[in-house]
Amino acid sequence: MPLAATDQPRQSNVAPALVLGIESSCDETAAAVLCADRGLLSNIVASQDEAHRPYGGVVPEIAARAHMSRIDTVIDRAVTDAGIAYDDLSAVAATSGPGLIGGVITGLMAAKGLSSSLGVPLVAVNHLEGHALSPRLTEDCPFPYLLLLVSGGHSQLLSVTGLGDYERLGSTIDDAAGEAFDKTAKVMGLGFPGGPNVERWAELGDPQAIPLPRPLLDRDSCDFSFAGLKTAVTRAFAASDRSDIAKADLAASFQRAVADCLADRTERAMARFKADHDGPHRFVVAGGVAANRTLRERLVRTAERMGFTPIFPPLQFCGDNAAMIARAGLERLQAGSSDPLSAPARPRWPLDTEAAHAAPASGSGRKGPKS
Ligand code: KG4
Ligand code: ZN
Repeated sequence: MPLAATDQPRQSNVAPALVLGIESSCDETAAAVLCADRGLLSNIVASQDEAHRPYGGVVPEIAARAHMSRIDTVIDRAVTDAGIAYDDLSAVAATSGPGLIGGVITGLMAAKGLSSSLGVPLVAVNHLEGHALSPRLTEDCPFPYLLLLVSGGHSQLLSVTGLGDYERLGSTIDDAAGEAFDKTAKVMGLGFPGGPNVERWAELGDPQAIPLPRPLLDRDSCDFSFAGLKTAVTRAFAASDRSDIAKADLAASFQRAVADCLADRTERAMARFKADHDGPHRFVVAGGVAANRTLRERLVRTAERMGFTPIFPPLQFCGDNAAMIARAGLERLQAGSSDPLSAPARPRWPLDTEAAHAAPASGSGRKGPKS
């Protein structure tokens, strides 16, 4: 149920002055302190890239162990850097899904321990809600807006109408966009995480050199599909001479194909969003893949053509971080909502109410369903 379809949330009895946010749903162990009046006071992200690099992707067991060994230190740093004491905290917000269950449990248990010992409310945050509200950390970004969320675990187009009020316009039916970048890099041996490496090689290549499919572009929906693209890249690389020129051309051609798919689906979603909402129209791009310059330029052009103002949150708030979890927690508290200590860790947790009640329509991936 939407909590409030307005930018003026009702005040709760709790004064949520200082919220500790905790994020641990994939391969970043993160904590942040957000002040209702003074903004973000600290933002700590401990990346696990080194631990997963030898495997070319995130290994759930390694991720869970890394979260367990770091979570206390990361939280402590966030509190210290904020210049506060634990007793000053007025609430703790933690990602409680969707994500890799070992990591989610680690962060959520830490949050429950703190909430219980400090006697402050717990907010069990949907990780996707954190991404959805991330532009509101730094921008005047009132509801409603269209959100393209593209990360290693998710690819979705969402209409964000209010706190707790999300309509999914489209999502991937198989791999997430970032996952496709990571797999493409793995096939060509370009290193992990794949996105930045594919982007670097793509700068040297010809985006028209290798013909690759644009899955689902003929469909009247806003859904994505990237699995076929990955297979096509694997075949094209196997058939190539594996030279540096071949790698650069394939990276550039792959990146162009992803850009074509994202821009086409986004344009459809924009048309739907405009039919439902009066202007001004805002378009937010969040998630780690939003770092890609070619994709950004392409999406800015799409937004301008469709009459949307493009908004790209700073990169530190695009990839997984705890500041966005603290923000979602703060907004929930301000709307009078918190959670019991029995709040479960949820490997799957669609953001939109409709999908939450429907059978999962999509395949599963490293962070659960892509829907
Ligand atoms: O949001 P994020 O940090 O974590 C997840 O929720 O997954 O996103 C990580 C994903 C990875 O798949 C990574 O390869 C991709 O974002 N990524 C990029 C770029 N930088 C990171 N993809 C394309 N181009 C980039 N420059
Ligand atoms: Zn994420």
